Amino acid sequence: MIRNRSHCGKKTAKRGKENSTKVEGETNGMKIPPVHDFKVEEISAVRENLLAWYDANKRDLPWRKMATRSDLNQRAYAVWVSEVMLQQTQVTTVIDYYNKWMKKWPTLQDLAKASLEEVNEMWSGLGYYSRGRRLHEGAQKVVDDLDGEMPKTAATLLKELPGVGRYTAGAIASIAYNEATGLVDGNVIRVLARLRLIGADSTSQHCMDTFWSHANMLVDPDRPGDYNQSVMELGATVCTPKSPDCSSCPLREQCKALCQVERERQLSASKLVETVVKKEETGTLLDIECCADNCKLCVDKEEPWDSSLGVMNYPRKGKKKPPRQDHTSVCVLCKKCSDGKHRFLIIQRPKKGLLAGLWEFPSEQTEKDKKAPDMLDIIDSKYNTSVEVVHERHSVGEVVHIFSHIHQTYSVEAVTVMEEKVEAEIVSDEKRWVTKEEFLEAAVSTAMKKIFKAYEKSLDDSTKVNKRKRQSSSDDSSNKKKQMSLNSFFKPKN
Ligand code: ADE
Repeated sequence: MIRNRSHCGKKTAKRGKENSTKVEGETNGMKIPPVHDFKVEEISAVRENLLAWYDANKRDLPWRKMATRSDLNQRAYAVWVSEVMLQQTQVTTVIDYYNKWMKKWPTLQDLAKASLEEVNEMWSGLGYYSRGRRLHEGAQKVVDDLDGEMPKTAATLLKELPGVGRYTAGAIASIAYNEATGLVDGNVIRVLARLRLIGADSTSQHCMDTFWSHANMLVDPDRPGDYNQSVMELGATVCTPKSPDCSSCPLREQCKALCQVERERQLSASKLVETVVKKEETGTLLDIECCADNCKLCVDKEEPWDSSLGVMNYPRKGKKKPPRQDHTSVCVLCKKCSDGKHRFLIIQRPKKGLLAGLWEFPSEQTEKDKKAPDMLDIIDSKYNTSVEVVHERHSVGEVVHIFSHIHQTYSVEAVTVMEEKVEAEIVSDEKRWVTKEEFLEAAVSTAMKKIFKAYEKSLDDSTKVNKRKRQSSSDDSSNKKKQMSLNSFFKPKN
């Protein structure tokens, strides 16, 4: 085992500005071992290199312009919206949603006045719908209970706003108010884990405390918002999970994971190679830099360094629980109306719980390997819509959608009825017949949009099959006719 190796990081002479009460090497009263910590001169190098890189490379994103609004409350609101949308969603997807949202609700007050239905419609397709609902509730709280005044520090944002966690509070406070407070998200974790060889389960409390401690220590007190955004930007564009571009990384001099990769390369090219190979053969692996046998930040000894992964050895996550497997029967019920339009039945989900308040096709959760229910019976009993005569009915097939922790399989069938054949329908607020255009504009989840796409494809496919059938039967009959005429031609005349 090789311990406390020297690092390849170039030292800079300038001393870093320390933030607040940081005592080097400590987090929540626990000591961070030197291997996983930053020296004072490294802190200033990280800040300088990152900010210079950010100034030259930052993406032109709409919320960055909004974060310079003169009214502090509206500035904080603009940052809040962007940061909530960016949680779990790619920047490229968020841009359009953000622009539309800010056009419709440019101020906190505008959002507070909106209905949840409108919020869900606007959020449709972004996923994790509770984010939009909580943002809406938060805006209502600021307007109704706080006189329109957003809390002005990370600590009070966290305390007073429902749905605002430590990350969002840190982002709003640093970007909108210039508070020197750090933040930790997936990108920040990856960058820090690689910089400081933090290879233990990154979701463990000990690792998370360390990441937060690092983030608060490293944040630049003069440009906290830019600093925080620069780490996330680096994680998103350079220090990526699967294809890190270390050669263009502004922190390569401070990166211990890269240092380790280079050391390995040098070792394997040097005379030492024989010794190393021998050690590997005898099971005494060349170890990843480590500090103490029981270090809670080091890579688990059971899963040592994988040379083929390089810096991607970091970070590591504990084993994920396998996703829950759910099965649901869905019916796309289409009504051919007398005005020539096709309308589809959609039902509103309960106002609480998963996908609260969103609209969906009539659905029934089922058990795998059990006989699926007849969806027309369900539609009759649950949704008070009784279909008298079915015009057409076919199976669309299975559609799979993965929610955060659920692997959902939908067995979809399509039923078409004529308007006059739907009888005994009881009108309710939780039920609507909508055209395709209305469906696509409604507050429906991505899973339902996927189902609709599969349904349309099944119609195309069956049209093609029918066409082919018609074609082949007409070919058959014309062949028969041809054959008959040939037969009669060759038939000997009596
Ligand atoms: N990811 C989340 N928020 C971000 C931001 N403000 N800049 C860059 N990446 C981000």
